[in-house]
Amino acid sequence: MDHKETLDSLLHEERVFRPLPQMLIEAGVNPQDLRAARELAEVDLCSYWEEAAEELDWFKKWEQVCDISDAPNYRWFSGARCNIVYNALDRHIETVNKNRLALIWEGEPGDSRQYTYYELYRAVNRFANGLKALGVGKGDRVVLYMPQLPETVIAMLACARIGAVHSMVFSGFSARLLRERVREVDPRVVVTVDGFYRNGQVIRLKEEVDRALLDDPAQNLESVVVVHRANVDVNMDSARDCWYEDLVRHERPHAPAEIMAADDPLFIMHTSGTTGKPKGLVHSHGGYMVGVHRTFKWVFDLKPTDIFWCSADPGWITGHSYLVYGPLLAGTTTVMYEGHSLYPQADRLWNIVSKYGVTIFYTSPTQIRTLMRFGHRYPEQHDLSSLRILGAVGEPFNTEAWLWMYENIGKGQCPVLDTWWQTETGMIMISPLPVSVLKPGSVTRPLPGIDADVVDAEGNPVPDGKGGLLVIKKPWPAMFSDVIGDREEVMAHYWKRIPGMFYAGDVARKDEDGYFWIQGRADDVLNISGHRIGTAEVECALTKHPQVAEAAVVGVVDKIKGQVAKAYVTLNHGFVESDDLHRELKEQVRRELGPIVIVRSIEFRDELPKTSSGKIKRTELG
Ligand code: WTA
Repeated sequence: MDHKETLDSLLHEERVFRPLPQMLIEAGVNPQDLRAARELAEVDLCSYWEEAAEELDWFKKWEQVCDISDAPNYRWFSGARCNIVYNALDRHIETVNKNRLALIWEGEPGDSRQYTYYELYRAVNRFANGLKALGVGKGDRVVLYMPQLPETVIAMLACARIGAVHSMVFSGFSARLLRERVREVDPRVVVTVDGFYRNGQVIRLKEEVDRALLDDPAQNLESVVVVHRANVDVNMDSARDCWYEDLVRHERPHAPAEIMAADDPLFIMHTSGTTGKPKGLVHSHGGYMVGVHRTFKWVFDLKPTDIFWCSADPGWITGHSYLVYGPLLAGTTTVMYEGHSLYPQADRLWNIVSKYGVTIFYTSPTQIRTLMRFGHRYPEQHDLSSLRILGAVGEPFNTEAWLWMYENIGKGQCPVLDTWWQTETGMIMISPLPVSVLKPGSVTRPLPGIDADVVDAEGNPVPDGKGGLLVIKKPWPAMFSDVIGDREEVMAHYWKRIPGMFYAGDVARKDEDGYFWIQGRADDVLNISGHRIGTAEVECALTKHPQVAEAAVVGVVDKIKGQVAKAYVTLNHGFVESDDLHRELKEQVRRELGPIVIVRSIEFRDELPKTSSGKIKRTELG
């Protein structure tokens, strides 16, 4: 049967994919274990998570696993003392893992760097001491505006090691967005690079930082640390800026891990929500560490010989949890690639898989759809036989792309895991394990300890097959623990909309087997290539143009990116539409928000449809 025929027949058949016999024999968690874990978690949620926590090292154990007395302000592992970096590094250098590769990094031009656990430990300590020398201490905030570089991992861990809170701003975001984040987060230090390589070009990141910091938006900002990467000329303000290499050169490679309370903040991650303005969510050392460690090991069935590659950028939660913290907590080797997947041609990712013998590859549906366009020729040119597990996250995984990955990358030998979770959840929530029966397009069932459901607006369960709102009914350890900004408002958004349940903001349905199918966002949030962007953020960027009176933005389907933005615009009196204006507005969005926010088209209207209270009716557009 040729490839096309197989795909077609699969598409018209509601196929289920059973685990291969070998997987059932070798998996660390088999279906019986999974059933037992679910049962334990149903009867005694705290025991289930306590057992997971016992796998990690604590300076002092908890008094309570989950304190629910002030719900929904749940507190995990209250009374406990720990440091996530102690578990990600120190713990391993006491074992044979000391000389195991912790990080394999490949630059876009083809250069490569590797760190054993011991080398990473030393590099992190040096930078931790460097940060201290700059006056950074426990509870201080550090903004990281960094691409995919080893120093990005080092900076995250160095902050966490000394109890500082890192807040990463995606390197694809613009100076304006960076400025907003800096103003809100008010860091003591910003860490960045001179430039980095992306699709054959050098992106000059330090210049963006200079633009963002023009008139000192942060009260407490004292230093900007710049990593040498692309060797481009940059302006260095001698009172504020210093080179990373100069800072760490004379620092000692030892620094104690700060003793943190389990719910002390680890990092801040911003995410778009209904209100348009991104929310700064906080994750903490203890609960996050337990949730990410357990889900990483179970979902990816981790083995001592694995080489794990998550292709997400560390600027997003996926990169935080499953490129950096998850793999390092578990003591595995994590792979990081600086550049573009099509550079210099469409086989770059497959080249990396074969070169380093990647065994587990975790990516996004957009990435697969992008590579699918180039057919099976490219994957066929490389030896992908090291792969044993594939996964994806970030947006609905359409059946066609799922099957393409299953056949052409996994060669029918690797389970394809569609994992559902969010910045808010910190860890994977609904997902198969490699031993699960798979249905392409479904995220299958909630993991043990996760009580997810599909309900109507009042919180009543909807019948199988019917769409509804996705909710989580019980707390889980990696849930965000705090909010910067208006905590009451943000907590109300997630927990009061449907009383007593966590409102995820997604629409989903369950089938007769209890399998979940995620359909998309329920709110005014676009999902462009798996990046969450509020429609209000795009509208705000458009209305900054002097000719624009009002703007409304909706999401429209895109074959590769899942969704892109479409804008409806009314102009101020005296202005008329033109091709130039069209171009200018697209450029405006790009400048304000960054190149990932793609406005496909702009329609000029005399007026926009409004409700009686004056709100734009987006449902009547698009
Ligand atoms: C979407 C990324 C369908 C969803 C880890 C969610 C998904 C948002 C899936 C979170 C999936 C994530 N299938 N949709 N497997 N995984 N999403 O915060 O809309 O960047 O609410 O976290 O992505 O995006 P975030």
